[in-house]
Amino acid sequence: MFSHKKFLLGIGLSMALVFPVLADQHQDEAILVGEESFECITDMIPVRGFYVASLTDNLSETILVANSSKGGKYPPGSIVQLIPGEAMVKRSEGTNPITHDWEFFELDVDENGTKIRKRGYSDVTNRFGGNCFGCHVQAKPQWDLVCENNHGCQSIPLTDDMIRALQLSDPRCNPPNELGEVEKKLFKSLAMY
Ligand code: HEC
Repeated sequence: MFSHKKFLLGIGLSMALVFPVLADQHQDEAILVGEESFECITDMIPVRGFYVASLTDNLSETILVANSSKGGKYPPGSIVQLIPGEAMVKRSEGTNPITHDWEFFELDVDENGTKIRKRGYSDVTNRFGGNCFGCHVQAKPQWDLVCENNHGCQSIPLTDDMIRALQLSDPRCNPPNELGEVEKKLFKSLAMY
């Protein structure tokens, strides 16, 4: 005979089995990102003023998109950086549709390596309280949230020379990069980055 109790128990059990799977949907187990995923910025691949790398051995596709004059979607595993203390990493498709699967990182770097100060999706802010996603989402759709200086985002208070000084003085680089006099001076004035 049909047992009501067993039926309810059955539903309960299948929910218990199904729901953890749904809840985990936004976790990305295919691409793991930790402190060891980051390195001296000038050891990454330079593209115009920024740098790229790949955590999934898909570097050629990452570079292709970065160099495309029409834009495009960065492949999962792409790392993009402008300065040593901030990074965007493209996670597996569907990890976070709102940020187009970009995870934002605020990093602390020194001679010993990288520490992750903050990480997340639409809720990460930089040292000045600016929300990463809030600015990067302003990029025109074809640029996949990458701002550069002409993709439509609110600008940052750093000149190209300041950005270059920050890149060259990344303390993780071994051997350290040579800094010119102008860059040395600029770097001193940029200690807060
Ligand atoms: C006020 C707006 C603003 C905020 C806040 C902001 N960015 Fe950006 N970001 C920009 C702009 C504009 C550029 C391009 C600057 C250039 O190339 O001169 C940029 C460049 C970058 C780049 C290089 C690729 C690109 O988009 O050009 C990365 C990576 C990046 N930012 C990550 C972050 C992270 C991580 C945070 C938060 C911790 C953050 N940004 C906060 C506006 C912002």
